Amino acid sequence: MDKRTIVVLPGDGIGNIVLEQALRVLDAAGFEADYIRGDIGWEFWCSEGNPLPQRTLDLIKKHKIALFGAITSKPNEEARAELNPDLREKGFVYSSPIVGLRQKFDLDICVRPCRSYKGNPLNFIRRGKGNTIEEPIIDVVIFRQNTECLYSGVEWTNPPENVYQALKSHPKFAENFGNVPVNELSVSARIFTKRATERILTAAFDYAKAHGYPSVTVCEKPNVIRETSGLMWKMAKEIQKKSFQEIKLNNTNIDAQMMWLTKNPEDYGVIVAGNMFGDIVSDAFAGLIGGLGFACSAQFSSDGIAVFEPTHGSAPKYAGYEVPIVNPVAMIESACMMLDYLNEKKTAERIRKAVAEIIMEGKVKTYDMMKMTGRPEVVNNGAASTIQMTDAIISRISK
Ligand code: NAI
Ligand code: MG
Repeated sequence: MDKRTIVVLPGDGIGNIVLEQALRVLDAAGFEADYIRGDIGWEFWCSEGNPLPQRTLDLIKKHKIALFGAITSKPNEEARAELNPDLREKGFVYSSPIVGLRQKFDLDICVRPCRSYKGNPLNFIRRGKGNTIEEPIIDVVIFRQNTECLYSGVEWTNPPENVYQALKSHPKFAENFGNVPVNELSVSARIFTKRATERILTAAFDYAKAHGYPSVTVCEKPNVIRETSGLMWKMAKEIQKKSFQEIKLNNTNIDAQMMWLTKNPEDYGVIVAGNMFGDIVSDAFAGLIGGLGFACSAQFSSDGIAVFEPTHGSAPKYAGYEVPIVNPVAMIESACMMLDYLNEKKTAERIRKAVAEIIMEGKVKTYDMMKMTGRPEVVNNGAASTIQMTDAIISRISK
C-alpha cells in the first residue's frame, strides 16, 4: 500500500475531538498515511485576522486531500471583538473558512450519504398497517451543488443603481416591486451555471450507475423557479437521454419532498439538487438516520482536490468537557468516504462493518443515541464517551 500524505484540519471545538478519533480508527484498520496538520478556524482569526491562512491553502493545494473536523463561525460583532487588539481597524473581515475552502478550491460537488444502521435507536419509525410500527431502511445519497445558488454571496440590501435598474427592466419586478423604495429592498441572486449544473448532475448519474441505484431524483422546484431549477431539470433530461438511459430520472419539488420524506423515505436513492435545496434535503434525510452524529460528507473539485468532513459544526457547548461526549460516527464515516476515494474500499468496509456491529448490539451508545440532553454527567448515566465509542468500534475492526 502506498503511503499518502493527508492534510488534517481539526478546526475548532469538537472538530478536534472527533478528528482525533477518526485518525485512531484509520490507524487501527491498518491504513497508513502521513498526516500534516493545517491551521484553520477561530484561533487563527483571533491571532492573525485570517481563519484560513495561505499556508493552509498551500498545503491542500500540494497534497490535494484533506480530512476536516469543524469550525466555529460567529457574527461580525463578536468576530471584531475577539480579534487581537493589534489587528483591529486594519481592515480584517471575518468570513467562514469552510465556505472559503469551497470557493478557493471550487469544491463544487458535495456528496452526503444518509444510510440507516440497523439497531440505531434514533432511526426513523412510522406507523404501518394495523397499528404496526415500521422502520424503513434508508439508503439515500444526496448530491448537492456546493458553490452556487443562493449561497454564492451575490446579494444586496439597498442595491446599487445599476443593479436596481437591471431589476426594473424585468417586467415582473416592475409590476410587483417597482414602487418599493430601493433602500427597502434586499436581493439575493440564485445563480446556476451550465458547467456546474452539468458536473453535479453527471456526478449523481455516475454514482447511481456505479453503485447500482435504479434512479436519480432531481429535487428542485422548476414549476416555480423556472430559470435556475428549470435549467437543472432540462439538463438532467438531456444527460439521462444521452448517457444514462438505463437509469430512471425522477423529479420532485423540494416542498413535496419534505412531506414524502417521512412517508416513503425508502423509495429514494440518489438525489441531486442545487446548493440550498441540497443543504435542506440532506439535513432532512440525516434526521431520519440519527441526526448530526451520523451525517458524513465529501466534497470534490474538478481538478482533483477532495475534502472529507462530518456535516455537523463545532458544537462549542460540548467542546470543553473533560470527558468528551459527542458521537464520533459522522467523522469516522467521513474518513471511510476518504478511504473509498483512495481506493481503500476494503479497509472502509471493515470499519463500516465494525460501526454497524456496535450499533446493532446496542451496548455502547453515545448520549445522542440514548436521547439524553448533552451534559458532562451523561457518561455517569450509561452513555459512552466519544473515546469509549471509538474504542468499541476499534475493538471490532477485523484484521
Ligand atoms: P453544530 O452542528 O455544531 O451543533 C448542533 C447540535 O447538534 C449540537 O448542539 C449537538 O446537540 C448536536 N451535535 C452536533 N454534532 C454532534 C455529534 N458529533 N454528536 C452528537 N451530537 C452532535 O451546529 P451549531 O450549534 O449550529 O453551530 C456551532 C458552530 O459550528 C457555529 O459556530 C457554526 O457556525 C459552526 N458550524 C460549522 C460547520 C462546519 O464546520 N462545517 C457546520 C455547521 C456549523
Ligand atoms: Mg446544512
